[in-house]
This record gives sequence, structure tokens and C-alpha cells, in this order.
Amino acid sequence: KPVVLSGIQPTGGMTIGNYVGAINQWLKLQEDHDCFFMLVDLHAITVRQDPALMRERVLDGIAMYTACGIDPEKSALFVQSQVPEHAQLSWVLNCYAQMGELNRMTQFKDKSSKHANNVNVGLFSYPVLQAADILIYQADQVPVGEDQKQHLELTRDIATRFNNIYGDVFKVPEPYIPELGARVMSLQDPLKKMSKSDENPNAFVLLLDEPKKIEKKLKKAVTDSDEQARIYFDRQEKPGVSNLLTLLSVATGRSVDALVPEYEDKMYGHLKKDTAAAVVEMLEPIQSRFREIRADQTLLDNIMRSGAERAGERAEKTLKAVYDAVGFIPRP
Ligand code: TYM
Repeated sequence: KPVVLSGIQPTGGMTIGNYVGAINQWLKLQEDHDCFFMLVDLHAITVRQDPALMRERVLDGIAMYTACGIDPEKSALFVQSQVPEHAQLSWVLNCYAQMGELNRMTQFKDKSSKHANNVNVGLFSYPVLQAADILIYQADQVPVGEDQKQHLELTRDIATRFNNIYGDVFKVPEPYIPELGARVMSLQDPLKKMSKSDENPNAFVLLLDEPKKIEKKLKKAVTDSDEQARIYFDRQEKPGVSNLLTLLSVATGRSVDALVPEYEDKMYGHLKKDTAAAVVEMLEPIQSRFREIRADQTLLDNIMRSGAERAGERAEKTLKAVYDAVGFIPRP
């Protein structure tokens, strides 16, 4: 079976952007792939985190993956820091990544201007750790949103560079980016990506937002103020409306092409109302499963334990091959 790896940072509540760009793809892939899905706590500390809050968020994350339908029997669900090989491989790969290429990473540029008082070395080498996450599993496919494309290209470059020196140690992975919803936009500024770290909470919908809140946020969504308030799908001309149509499509499981004719003669308000209703209907069962799973620490422990075990087995093999390739002697 082809191998799939992906992860989300436990730095805030998960948004509907995380769902549409990532988790929704994972659900499809887990049926016929060997899947590894993690919470990337090592990545999270590149920005200051409150330790107590981070513990909560990692557990929330495991519970949320499961509540969304990621099946711990089929897929390994785990916490990055519990599989030490990620950090170990990351060091080695740091020695095969160039300052110049990391300097070009747009996420680094964004984050280092946003957190100008803490531009730490970890933030700079963040994409190298991400490359280690992927390469340690010899992943064939990496399902992510559009914003991660540059990091995946870097991962491919590092893998290819390493392989050119030492032979075929790493599988060179392919990105797996959805056609629809690769970039869910902010509800307050549809030219900007929806992000959980947005200072305006009306810009995003969290998977755990109450129905009333979801309705309110969607009602306030910024739509396009061209002359004729027509509803059609065009990301350039109609970014706000197209964003709502994307959410409506994912939440109902119906294609945008099928939805658009139903809204041609309607007003923005109808689209907002229906989108809110569909999102609430999709999230309600997820939220109630989440509450159940989150309250069951034994279940969470079992999921994390077996996930880390499965992940560790595979990671260990790659790390051995890498250490051997560069000339490290195994501990006698
Ligand atoms: P993070 O936590 O920022 O986002 C997690 C996943 O959600 C996707 N995503 C979106 N997709 C569509 N529209 C949006 N508005 C939106 N916002 C977020 C992201 O593309 C991502 O797939 N560096 C990664 C975490 C990571 C990782 C990895 C991913 C670490 N190691 C290895 C894949 C493989 C990140 O910051 O994700």
C-alpha cells in the first residue's frame, strides 16, 4: 500500500480550513493507503506556547482526528514528539539543507515578521523538520493545503540531494493538494488565507464553534461588492462568494457545478444562511463524538500508544539506513 503522512500544529483550535484542506483528504486516503497522521508539537514550539494549553491542544487534536472519522485501527494517529526519530533525522537533514533555500520560504518570512522578537533558529529550520517528518516514513503522498506546497518542494529537493550522494535512501514524495478547497479564505478578507492565528475570530470557523457562532460568523462574512450581486464561482472576480460555495460544497458533498444553478437568482444572504446550515449539520455529529472521545483519557492513551508504536517501527528503519549511509557506527 502507498504510504501517506500528514500533520497539523496544535497551536489553536482546528479551523474549517484545516478540515477542508487536510483532514477531508485524509478520510479518503485512509481507505486504501498506509496512513500516518500526527500532531506536530515539535513544530509548535517555534512560536512560544503555554505548556498547559499545549497539552490540552494535543489531546484535543487526537480526539478531533478521531471524531472526524480518522480510524485509529486503519491509520496511525500519533504525537510527533513521542517518536524521537523525527528530531534525530531532522538534525541530519539540517546538514543537507542550505541557508539560502530556507531563506526563501514564505512561511518563514511571514512568521519572522509577525514574531519579530523571537526569530529563533527552530523557526528557520522548521521546514527541515517537516522534511524529516515526511522522509522518515518513506511517504509516497502528503495531503496538505496549498500553503504547504513550498515546503513539500523543499522536501523533494533535500531527498533528491541526499539520494544523489548516498544512493536511494529516501522515497521522493508527491504533494496531494485538493482541487477544491486547497485554500479556504478568511471570512473577513477573502484575499487572505483562513488562519487560526488571525486576530479577528470572525475570520475563521473553528471545528468546535457552537452552531450560533458559526451562523453569526457566516452571516458577517465579507462578500463581493461588485455592481450586480450575482452568485457564481470565480476565485478572481468573486473570491468571497466562491469561498462560501466551496464551504457549501464540502459540507453538503455536492459539486459546485451542481450548486451554482440553484443560487443564480438568489441573494448573498441565502447563500450565507444555507452555507451556515450545512456547516453546522456537518460539524454537529463531529462535535458530539469529540466530546465523548475527549473525556475518555484511556481511549486517547491507547490511540497515542498504538499510533506511536506503528510510527516508531517504520521511522526506526529509515533512521538506521540514514545513519548507516552517512557513516555512523551503531551502538555496540
Ligand atoms: P498547519 O497546522 O498550518 O495546517 C495544517 C493543514 O491544514 C492546511 N490548511 C489549510 N488548507 C486550506 N485552507 C486553509 N485556509 C488552510 N489552513 C491550513 C494546511 O495546508 C495543512 O495541510 N507545516 C504544517 C504542519 C506539518 C506537516 C508536516 C504537514 C508539519 N510536518 C508534514 C504535512 C507533512 C503546518 O503548518 O500545518
